Amino acid sequence: MRYRLEILVAGRSREELVMLRDLLGQQGDVNASVRHITNGHTDPLHDVHPLPDALVLVVSENWEAELSALSERPATERPPLLVIGHKGNVELIRVAMRAGARDFFTPPVAEDEIAGFLQQLARDRQAESARRTAHMTAVINAKGGSGASTVAANLAHILANSSERRTALIDLDVQFGALPLYFNLTPRNGLVRALELVDSLDAVALEGYVQPHRSGLDLLASAPDELVSVADVPESRVELLLQVMGQAYDDLVVDLPRWISGSTAVVLEHADRILVVLEQSVAHLRDAKRLMSILRQELQIGGSRVTIVVNRYDKRSPVGLGDIREALPEQVIVTLPNDFRRVTESINVGSPLLELARKAPVTRDLVTLSRRLREDPHQSSRKSSGWSLFGWTRSY
Ligand SMILES: Nc1ncnc2c1ncn2[C@@H]1O[C@H](COP(=O)(O)OP(=O)(O)OP(=O)(O)O)[C@@H](O)[C@H]1O
Ligand SMILES: [Mg+2]
Repeated sequence: MRYRLEILVAGRSREELVMLRDLLGQQGDVNASVRHITNGHTDPLHDVHPLPDALVLVVSENWEAELSALSERPATERPPLLVIGHKGNVELIRVAMRAGARDFFTPPVAEDEIAGFLQQLARDRQAESARRTAHMTAVINAKGGSGASTVAANLAHILANSSERRTALIDLDVQFGALPLYFNLTPRNGLVRALELVDSLDAVALEGYVQPHRSGLDLLASAPDELVSVADVPESRVELLLQVMGQAYDDLVVDLPRWISGSTAVVLEHADRILVVLEQSVAHLRDAKRLMSILRQELQIGGSRVTIVVNRYDKRSPVGLGDIREALPEQVIVTLPNDFRRVTESINVGSPLLELARKAPVTRDLVTLSRRLREDPHQSSRKSSGWSLFGWTRSY
């Protein structure tokens, strides 16, 4: 998540770009960068990832091509646009409006014009974040060591990579959580401090507690010096934290400890989707059944919100999918293949699977799982009613 406004100034006249960048840079919490368009692509946003919060385009004599390249982008891949060009050109203004321009200034741009544009952007962002409530996926092991953290880390990373949606991963295993290692990150101010100060936390202050990963994913996890037990984390604080994070992000993935306490229960109750991770053994099946009955009887969470993830799936295992289906009837079941070498290397070097082994079957299946989460009807009708298998296929 970024709260400082990231603005890209694009155009063909380097001198004008630098002047605008400096003007923007004087306006408080703004990071302005310059994209000097030479020959080649006319789309000022070609290969720009992540997208900036706004684009300031200084149009050239090639304005028609530059603006139509922008109009052709899907609306979700078009940040707010400010066009700098000559107001006398009525056709230019018309095309700029079609490309989604919010404002149009003639050079030289005055400081108060830029300040007005930025104020409007900041207001829009505030309104947007007040409206937003993230789609939340909780991941929990049926039995310790089944791979919940691997699934949570890689799903969140794939979600962050595959769209412009803001994604955060929360490691709620305050005692033994190791997710920072999976990304080669070291939290400074971590989850525990965020929970302590949650009353005064808003989307801006959150930035001081999350660790940004190069993929755009933000990680909230305990810092090494924060030693508490999950039982010490008050559920009301976890609830407040979820509220703040829900407004700051589009997707939240939460890695849960297996211990069902008040705070884990809060996450499970609020989650749009719960992934229960298990391996193929009688002991895993027994624990999965027990977990499902806790969810149903103590937390009143219906099976329709739960997906069973059979990790390290081996079709030759004595405990087959038929046994799992029989033990957990009516559940959606997906499988992830066993790939000890790649998964272990990924954790050891702190590089998620999409970076390390994009084409490996385990990565591809995680990508498919992330797509299914995207298609999840809970994104539009949250936790409302008995949810059918619409949009999901059972991988029997
Ligand atoms: N699909 C897979 N193929 C092979 N090995 C895997 C796979 N998924 C996970 N593992 C291995 O299983 C081990 C445990 O997985 P993970 O790190 O996800 O911990 P966890 O299940 O969350 O454990 P805990 O219960 O302690 O939190 C890891 O060392 C990882 O290498
Ligand atoms: Mg774990």
